[in-house]
Amino acid sequence: MPAIVIVGAQWGDEGKGKIVDIYTERADMVVRFGGGPNAGHTLVVDHQKFVVRLVPSGILRQGTTCVLAQGMVIDPRSLVTELDELESRGIKTSGRLLVSDRAHVIFPYHVLVDGLREGEGKKDAIGTTKRGVGPCYEDKFARRGVPLGAFRDVQKLREMTQRALAEWSPVIRHLGGDVPRLDDVLAAIAPTRERIVPLLVDTQSLVERAVRARKNVVLEGAQGTLLDVDHGTYPFVTSSTPTAGGACVGAGVGPTRIDEVVGLVKAYTTRVGGGPFPTELHDEVGESIRKVGAEFGSVTGRPRRTGWLDLPALRYAVRVNGLDALAVTKLDVLTGLDAVKVCVAYDTSHGRTEDLPLDEFGTVTPVYQTFKGWTQPLGGARSMADLPREARAYLDFVEAKGECPFILVSVGPARDETILLRDPFGPQAAC
Ligand code: GDP
Ligand code: IMO
Ligand code: MG
Repeated sequence: MPAIVIVGAQWGDEGKGKIVDIYTERADMVVRFGGGPNAGHTLVVDHQKFVVRLVPSGILRQGTTCVLAQGMVIDPRSLVTELDELESRGIKTSGRLLVSDRAHVIFPYHVLVDGLREGEGKKDAIGTTKRGVGPCYEDKFARRGVPLGAFRDVQKLREMTQRALAEWSPVIRHLGGDVPRLDDVLAAIAPTRERIVPLLVDTQSLVERAVRARKNVVLEGAQGTLLDVDHGTYPFVTSSTPTAGGACVGAGVGPTRIDEVVGLVKAYTTRVGGGPFPTELHDEVGESIRKVGAEFGSVTGRPRRTGWLDLPALRYAVRVNGLDALAVTKLDVLTGLDAVKVCVAYDTSHGRTEDLPLDEFGTVTPVYQTFKGWTQPLGGARSMADLPREARAYLDFVEAKGECPFILVSVGPARDETILLRDPFGPQAAC
């Protein structure tokens, strides 16, 4: 099963870090194909917690080559900090981490603009992670961005940065900020150059060659389907394409070369930042899910909004990504609730629908089906038979209505707290 794409089926934070880490036990290569330091993927191994932001979640497996592909936007200072953090915790990164020379550089002025636009408690704020991701993609698509390859040539880097900064200067002034000096911008990133230049390669040919050689390659998504700039709850989205098609574009692998697409879904829903969230809970049940599930952003520490699982949204993710299989995470967090609800349809101004009315998502009323809760802790479950009857009934319903078979169910943050339903690299069961 050589090329597998793993994507989030909701609004991010579905547990991609944990699941990619499981897959990479037997992967030769793990490739992050989009996004930037807005991602925060948590891995828990031997009671130690690691949070990776730019580096692929395969980094903990010493035999795996980790690739940051050209669909990404990379803050060189964040990358160096992250590599230092990993090295200081005994994770060897040198020689096994490669970075695309066509990934775009996040400069301090991108971070500045992101922060100025979002402000403190601004009414129309998106609720971004303020890591400069959106402004950097703006530069890329305006064709004035700076690819990391420019780090090889100081003069070229200076010229390209000068041009981009000149475009941003009136915007920064308009937003009430101070335009940084070019020399200061370049000085801020200068110390990262000698660390990053040796890592730069043409990752497209590297990844494509590995796929052609039938190596086990995992294309690791960041964010989630409903944050996709085309398919998400626009404008409350990120600025990239976290859906499966984005893996092909961002890594440079043709769609015919992908063997399987796996979607991750929490047993409930969370969202960080602004935007519609029909199944959101504003009561003590939502608070309890946040507490038990430790639902606080791994990048910003913000409390995540919590709510029930949304089946029309899940089916939408299955279709948009062409999912072959679903991995369900955080089922254990629902333990102890009297009842577990799941949204099966919405009431809209045009009547009831089981589809996703993205254009009126902010005003729909969810229709719920209620399941009996369970009290047993699930962390020890290693097969479906180990789960309480009520949890199985809930999962059976989600699998049937989600219209996609499960490949695994995660019942805790640690590697082994997982019910594996089939070999991740074995023959796939078609949707
Ligand atoms: P990602 O961005 O999709 O990688 O997800 P995050 O790492 O931001 O958030 C998921 C959180 O849930 C992390 O703290 C994980 O350690 C944790 N987690 C993952 N799977 C499970 C699970 O099955 N049960 C519990 N309780 N926690 C989990
Ligand atoms: P992982 O990979 C959850 C959200 C932000 C905001 C919107 C735009 O950990 O699942 P941005 O900084 O990207 O311009 O913010 O997208 N967002 C995420 N939410 N998990 C993420 O990544 C996210 N990356 C971006 O909260 O609503
Ligand atoms: Mg996350």
